[in-house]
Amino acid sequence: MTKQDARLDVAVLNKFAKAELLYEGKAKTVYKIEGEDNLLWLDYKDSLTAFNAQKKGSFENKGGVNREITSIIFRFLNRRGVKSHWVGDRDGNAMICEKLTMIPLEVVVRNSVAGSLAKKIGVAEGAEIKPPLVEFYYKNDKLEDPFISDDQALFLKCVEGQNDLNELKEKARVINQALIEFFSRLGVKLIDFKIEFGRNERSEIVLGDEITPDSCRLWDIKTGERLDKDRFRRDLGRVAESYQEVLGRIRAVWGG
Ligand code: ADP
Ligand code: TMP
Ligand code: ASP
Repeated sequence: MTKQDARLDVAVLNKFAKAELLYEGKAKTVYKIEGEDNLLWLDYKDSLTAFNAQKKGSFENKGGVNREITSIIFRFLNRRGVKSHWVGDRDGNAMICEKLTMIPLEVVVRNSVAGSLAKKIGVAEGAEIKPPLVEFYYKNDKLEDPFISDDQALFLKCVEGQNDLNELKEKARVINQALIEFFSRLGVKLIDFKIEFGRNERSEIVLGDEITPDSCRLWDIKTGERLDKDRFRRDLGRVAESYQEVLGRIRAVWGG
């Protein structure tokens, strides 16, 4: 896989200039691009947060690692027919994306019990879930992103109707199948993950945001070792090394 998957020529990408700051998030900073109303510049930050930013940390080049992981995964998904906002990369931690009107839902897919679900239903981490669960969480930092039902999402007008929720679930299931294969080739089991969607200027629902060890649970198939943000959340150590390990395996299998 090469940079040729970029939706714009590299020479065009390299001419883009970062303009006004739109939003400073916990893991990324979003900027306008000079003269480009339908594109955004995303800088992936080196900082790391958990529990709605109550716990804070960072490591050197975390942004670069997560930018590259997302970029390779979004290009892989694109070849599987899944449209994402990814347009191209800039050096280091910056990515050029299609500007979306974000749907305020975190869509979580679970292949095995872990994290908040293990706590909520009292089932041990690692238990298989078949068929996988698709859940919606209301993206609202003040409310700490609560789990919501379809009816609550409709009441909150997160989307226009049940058809949109069904489309999100269907897209999430397709992405899950592709990602299970993507990670299993690295010797990694995809336990669960969170994705976000938005609408582009043609009103199509498109995958946005990121797919990284921040937003997935990734366990080594042989050892069960956790290779994701749970190392930070649970003080397991070797946080940077685990993110780098994931990127190293991705590069080795799927190319840079
Ligand atoms: P958070 O907002 O949870 O702190 P980030 O630090 O990752 O998360 O910030 C990135 C923000 O940009 C998120 O709110 C995400 O919903 C939003 N976003 C991601 N992709 C796009 C896009 N293509 N267009 C507009 N907003 C986006
Ligand atoms: P959970 O078990 O804490 O609900 O998390 C499920 C998945 O969603 C897990 O892969 C981590 C990811 N996630 C995020 O990306 N952002 C969040 O804010 C939370 C709570 C979880
Ligand atoms: N994304 C949330 C935070 O950054 C929670 C988490 O990932 O644990 O604080």
